[in-house]
Amino acid sequence: MADDNQKDSDDFFIRITQAANIIKNHIDTHELIRVISHIDADGLAAAGILGKTLQRAEAFFRIRIVKQLTEEIVNELISEDHSLLIFMDLGSGSLDLLDAKLKDCELIIFDHHKPMNVTIPQLTHINPHLASYDGTREISGAGVTYLTAKAMDNTNIDLAPLAIVGALGDSQDKNDERGLIGLNEGIVDDAVNTGCIKVERDLLLFGRETRPIHKALAYTTDPFIPGLSNAEDKCLGFLNNLDIDLKIHDRWRTINDLTVEEKEKIFSKIATYLSSKGSPDSDALRLIGKIYTLTNEDRFKPMRDGREYASFLNACGRMRKGGLGVAVAMGSRGETLDEALEILNNYKKTLSQYLDWVIQIPNVLRKLKNIYVINGSDKIDELIIGTIASILSSGYLKEKMPIIALTSSEDGMVKVSGRIPNDFNRGNLDLGTIFREISTKLNGIGGGHNVAAGALLPKDSENQFIKSINKLVGLMHHTITTD
Ligand code: C5P
Ligand code: ZN
Repeated sequence: MADDNQKDSDDFFIRITQAANIIKNHIDTHELIRVISHIDADGLAAAGILGKTLQRAEAFFRIRIVKQLTEEIVNELISEDHSLLIFMDLGSGSLDLLDAKLKDCELIIFDHHKPMNVTIPQLTHINPHLASYDGTREISGAGVTYLTAKAMDNTNIDLAPLAIVGALGDSQDKNDERGLIGLNEGIVDDAVNTGCIKVERDLLLFGRETRPIHKALAYTTDPFIPGLSNAEDKCLGFLNNLDIDLKIHDRWRTINDLTVEEKEKIFSKIATYLSSKGSPDSDALRLIGKIYTLTNEDRFKPMRDGREYASFLNACGRMRKGGLGVAVAMGSRGETLDEALEILNNYKKTLSQYLDWVIQIPNVLRKLKNIYVINGSDKIDELIIGTIASILSSGYLKEKMPIIALTSSEDGMVKVSGRIPNDFNRGNLDLGTIFREISTKLNGIGGGHNVAAGALLPKDSENQFIKSINKLVGLMHHTITTD
């Protein structure tokens, strides 16, 4: 008799085969396949995977990238002429909206967010949670899209690296040695077996093949190293005392150029430094782990390293150039890539300015009883506030507590992003669920994963939202604070 996990797994892969067959049938009709995907790295990687798969199959398709699924967008989709609608890295948390609006349309969802309990007859729903997998850690939106692309045609196995990029973009590497686990591990095997990915254990500074060491250290924000992250000059001073040649002749060395002993020296100095700042040992340990190298990519481009590729896609999306990211993921290079790299530079500058602002200006970052709050007012772009919350939750905060960041949204609402730091003892706390419940009560929309969630609220309801979150975190968190 098959055990429960086996049954779940069978069901998951049966659904994937069904989705693959539906897409193939629609390709044969030559009618428009409409694809809607999410603006973050995972969503763009998913769009790259499906876009390439449909292009190879000579399908008639169009991709749209959105920041979240709203009633307005669904209304626009209703008015279009398409035979199949596919949602990627979103949709599972908006089943009520899709059910109410899209009664006559064939739908597929490739997602890994917690699904709502709504049944839609014409929907083929691919979501790991429906088969008892952990959608936060074990597979991403790009991952489920990849498994379906492979079920459509095994030659799409060469798209496995993009699924790995999607998983890394969604921080699914928060495991021992920063490795990918569960269904992601099977995808890594596909990529390794076809020679597209090399997995090694190394020092995880950002830009290990491309950047001078001090810059790689300054760009590293996971963990956030107070005083060094986002501070290039300080990093140069920090490394100068280590008796390591930072240059060979006129060329800056990269992490990749260093000997094992040199890397150990750097790691040990950072670990001592972090410890002197009161960080737990686990923060330093996140600097060593698995790296995923895309062996077919140019050594000096961000697509070479899985985590850098994810940051690059994320930058395109957050700078409202998601289409460029998808084009690169589908294989475009030349001028498209040049333009996207320029976007990446601008994004880094913007992010660095925002971080300086949040850290240096008094009262932008406040500590309440159970949470931290960032008030981005009109300063921080609504598409970047989530990244700021992610970075600051990974080592900057003195106390391990959830961080809730707010800013104005272009449609007159308030955008909120919440993140829970790695070492926070969550107890029963599921940020995605409480974001959804509280924002619905306040006539907004919200949702997400247990450790990362977002919401869009009506103006002037933000204080009530913060109050409710602060209270619920206190109640559900493992140890209830009493001060
Ligand atoms: O917007 P932000 O990056 O803060 O969102 C964090 C996570 O919550 C993302 O995975 C996003 O897809 C999800 N989310 C959601 N429903 C919303 C807003 C965000 O599922 N309404
Ligand atoms: Zn995702």
